[in-house]
Formats: sequence, C-alpha cells, structure tokens
Amino acid sequence: MYSVVVYESMFGNTHLIAQAIANEFGTPEQVFVVPADEASPALLEGARLLVVGGPTHAHSMSRASTRQAAIDAARKSHGDLDLDPAAAGLGLRDWLGSLSGFTGKAAAFDTRVNGLAFLTGHASKAISRELKRHGFRLAAPPESFRVDRNNHLVDGEEERAAAWGRVLAESMAEKGISA
Ligand SMILES: Cc1cc2nc3c(=O)[nH]c(=O)nc-3n(C[C@H](O)[C@H](O)[C@H](O)COP(=O)(O)O)c2cc1C
Repeated sequence: MYSVVVYESMFGNTHLIAQAIANEFGTPEQVFVVPADEASPALLEGARLLVVGGPTHAHSMSRASTRQAAIDAARKSHGDLDLDPAAAGLGLRDWLGSLSGFTGKAAAFDTRVNGLAFLTGHASKAISRELKRHGFRLAAPPESFRVDRNNHLVDGEEERAAAWGRVLAESMAEKGISA
C-alpha cells in the first residue's frame, strides 16, 4: 500500500513542503508526490492516506485569475521567482471538484504568508472541507506552512513539514494503517 501527496504550486514552495512531508511516509516506492493533474482516480483508489496541499490565494484556494497573477508576478520578478513545473497545470479547486466517492483518510495543508490566519486566510481550511464533502475522513487538522512577503519559505518550515508528516505517519500506524 502507498500514500499520495497531491500538490498545487506556483513558485515551488508548496512543492518543497509536499516533498518534505512525503519523505516521512517511507521509501520512494511507498509514496507518490504528484501535481493535481497527475492525481488520477485510479491512483487515489489504492492509497491508504491522501495529503493535499496548495498555496493560499486571496484567502483560500487559487482561482484561474490568481494563478495568472502568480505567473505575471514571476515574469516581473527579474529572476527572483521561478515558476514550478506544476504552475501550468490544474489548480486544486478544479481537481477537488472532479473527485467523487472516496472513503479513505486524508489531510490538508497550505502555504501562506507569515501572519495571523484571520488576516491571511488559509487554503487548507477549504481543502479539508472539500475532502470531507467527497467522503474522505480527516486524519489531522489542516496545517499551514509559511512564506515571507517575497514568496520564499520561512526558515525551518521544511523541517516543520517533515515533523507534521512524521506525526501523520505515526497516527496512521497507531490505527494499524501503514502510511
Ligand atoms: C495572486 C496571489 C494571491 C495571494 N493571496 C494570498 C493571501 O490571501 N493570503 C496569503 O497568506 N498569501 C497569499 N499569497 C501568497 C501565497 O500564499 C504564496 O505565494 C504561496 O504560499 C507560495 O506557494 P507556491 O510557491 O507553492 O506557489 C498570494 C499569492 C498570489 C500570487
């Protein structure tokens, strides 16, 4: 059995966090880390645990307009921001909207600007809500990992993501489900 970590990422930060979480789920054969448009229903069917993460845009999940704004920002950044290979792909909002009929365990995370959640918003809340609506049971409360105002990961966030992944894997193991 295996786990699946599905991510959306424009500037690469959520991708890095997704990989840091996935590293805690066992060997590379035991976990798939995929952008939303590679997360097929067949892949999800066989998963013991699904983790879904994306960037916070306009206080929630991205939309076509905010994804385009991110692409424009990268172009204007004079090389400070690189677009992730997933940036041209599907956003989580559309991907989650296409799911149906799942019963497994899942958890959600986001990346967002460092600050109070009621000011920044956090996409993981909406991702969790969608996962539950589609039949998943939540294995953990939604979690956020921080970027600075220039869209670079705050120091220590990859380590915090690894710790979150470890706790998730341990809680699955305690329930007799190897992640
Ligand atoms: C169009 C746009 C809107 C954003 N809106 C928010 C927001 O409402 N709250 C927030 O905390 N961060 C916001 N951000 C910052 C993103 O959360 C940040 O770019 C993201 O976490 C970086 O992840 P990524 O590198 O995987 O794209 C916004 C970024 C963009 C490009």
